[in-house]
Amino acid sequence: MKLTTSLVLATASLTSALTIDLNLAGLARPLLHTTSASHSTSKTQNPHAWIAASPADARSPCPMMNTLANHGYIHRDGRNITREGLAEGLVQSINFSPELAASMFDLILSMDPSATDFDLDMLNAHNVGEHDASLSRLDAYFGNNHAFNPTIFAQTTSYWTSDPVTAQMLANSKVARQIHSKAFNPTYTYPASTEQTSHTETGFPILAFGDIQNGTVARAAVEYWFANERLPSEVGWKVRQEPVTAEQMGAVTKMIADAVGLVTGKKE
Ligand code: HEM
Repeated sequence: MKLTTSLVLATASLTSALTIDLNLAGLARPLLHTTSASHSTSKTQNPHAWIAASPADARSPCPMMNTLANHGYIHRDGRNITREGLAEGLVQSINFSPELAASMFDLILSMDPSATDFDLDMLNAHNVGEHDASLSRLDAYFGNNHAFNPTIFAQTTSYWTSDPVTAQMLANSKVARQIHSKAFNPTYTYPASTEQTSHTETGFPILAFGDIQNGTVARAAVEYWFANERLPSEVGWKVRQEPVTAEQMGAVTKMIADAVGLVTGKKE
């Protein structure tokens, strides 16, 4: 059954799938299958060339999901994405470990436990997966909650005060976006589950393109990626040699969680 955005989904949270201790049980089935994700490109072309989405294609508020579709690492039309297809795409594009890559589909199951595939535009449902105070999207109250918004992103990047961007700067920009939304959006909604999910999202640029150990990422890579929904090879990024693990995702999430507080000094 395809992910639907109705029923009890509003109460579902991404938190369980994005917390540090990912449940990787039951993921022993083969992850890499031979289904081509590049159905819309000719076999003589690079199957992972970047091609902008057409108006008919489904896209989402997630810059990485859109990037994978634009490169044909998942179906270019953004539809019918299975656990296996998503996992294959994340392994091949940004070198997530097969286990971590497969576990990402649990995000979808947290929205609809019976889902076997999803379309990217299903992620646009407000306060299901999509939420307020994004780094690069308008709050739903103000308009389009899923397309990249340069004005919002400029707010975010104004808090990236040096290069490389650190986990602290990413966290600062996230908190700033929350304060801005809380001040100006009368429907601002940000439950604890969203906050936890956001810590992982905010750290994702480090996980995908940065130095995980030091919690940093080249500013050019992040900016290029957000703005173009394209892997930032043109600005010097190279896919990392060692696969990204669930433990690393947890560690980067914790870096952000530790950095969002506004009080200085040690906790009592
Ligand atoms: C099944 C896998 C995934 C799903 C279903 C998913 C879904 C989403 C959704 C619904 C949002 C919107 C949240 C908001 O309203 O701001 C989002 C944001 C985001 N996602 Fe993903 N995501 C997935 C994997 C990834 C991966 C692997 C990366 C990068 C390594 C990534 C990077 C991001 C970032 C940076 C944001 C924040 C965008 C912003 O605040 O403007 N996502 N994702």
